[in-house]
Amino acid sequence: MSALCSRFADGLHGTISVAGDKSISHRALIFGAMAVGKTTITGLLEGEDVLCTAEALRHLGATITKEGTLWVVDGVGVGGLQEPSTVLDVGNSGTSARLLMGLVASYPFTTFFTGDASLRKRPMQRAMTPLQQMGVAFTARSGGRLPLAVNGTADTLPITYTLPVPSAQVKSTVLLAGLNTAGITKVIEPIPSRDHTERMLEAFGATIVISHNEQNERVIALEGQPELKPQNVLVPRDPSSAAFPIVAALITKNSDVTLTNICLNPHRIGLITTLQEMGARLTLLNKRIEGSEDVADIRVESSTLKGVDVPASRAPSMIDEYPILAVAASCAVGTTTMRGLGELKVKESDRLAGIATGLAACGVTVEVADDTLIVHGKGQPQGGATIAVNLDHRMAMSFLVLGMASKNPITVDDGSAINTSFPNFVNIMNAAGANIQ
Ligand code: S3P
Repeated sequence: MSALCSRFADGLHGTISVAGDKSISHRALIFGAMAVGKTTITGLLEGEDVLCTAEALRHLGATITKEGTLWVVDGVGVGGLQEPSTVLDVGNSGTSARLLMGLVASYPFTTFFTGDASLRKRPMQRAMTPLQQMGVAFTARSGGRLPLAVNGTADTLPITYTLPVPSAQVKSTVLLAGLNTAGITKVIEPIPSRDHTERMLEAFGATIVISHNEQNERVIALEGQPELKPQNVLVPRDPSSAAFPIVAALITKNSDVTLTNICLNPHRIGLITTLQEMGARLTLLNKRIEGSEDVADIRVESSTLKGVDVPASRAPSMIDEYPILAVAASCAVGTTTMRGLGELKVKESDRLAGIATGLAACGVTVEVADDTLIVHGKGQPQGGATIAVNLDHRMAMSFLVLGMASKNPITVDDGSAINTSFPNFVNIMNAAGANIQ
């Protein structure tokens, strides 16, 4: 355990380069491994989660090296994975677990997965259910938890699967299993989620068709067993990591920062929309397309925020951002109501409970009713608490940001989980004006 303490900060200044996008980094490695030949990746997030995916892919036969700042993946081609000779330990990373479970499902061998204490509590049945429909068997701990074994088969069946929860991870589980399955695998998304997998499959040369059915649900159809062609992938910076300096700049006085090269995939911008509704001074600059993704720079200036009502329909486009939005809401004036937060209970920790307990300890008035979180903002919070982050990187970073604007310092009991997604968080924030030790 390594505690970190964040004290009041005057404001943030300068240009900030946050970490590479976590979702895109996982996928760049995976599709690189599935292509025939050498894929290069610029801007890969070198966080623990992504490094777990890289290590797992090595055990499955891909060659992954770092040459200078460039990552190089020498792929084995669709159908070319080998049985790993050891358990794949994917640490804290739900994305690694669920995506790789799908990837290995269509091979006639057994793959064992485990993870850290946080990941071993998280539900894997949501990834197992569609794979079982495709003909794959599992041996898992009760409740569909890790450790588990995927008993793959070379005869997976193409299925049409309607997602019961909006989850890009489960969507990707099915599509990755479909990649090495003869025929057309379809995923139906009643509520759309981040589409990095679809964009990257297309860029690597797969035949993937996206349409809408009569109910206006998104239908993704992937033709199995393509030959994927290696790519030079550019990874933009992570909007979910950018969220921390963005909110820090908004809630501290005299801030003026620019965050460069941020991924603004339309399925990831719910926080930006919400902050703008709260009165945030955010300016999107140099909007452009880079690689397969929408990208822009974001200028952020200190702002007086007001409480808003955040609809449940926005949750998939900001699912990782509720802890930091709750921090912004605590420093706003008025009530912010966030609805449809059921999925927060099964993230790296139970974030709904953690936000409520942590904010209350910092003197903020909070209510939780079913899947709704209500924060009564009254300007500057008291702070002065120590928060248990339960191996959850986003909870740690959120409460450190709150400490920057609170009357008294805020300590998080363990900052080590920050390395999973944003290894330079403390240095980057301190260089811009924070006081985190
Ligand atoms: C991710 C999808 C989201 C998100 C996670 C990354 C991805 O999870 O919370 O951090 O890369 O596909 P769900 O798909 O479970 O909502």
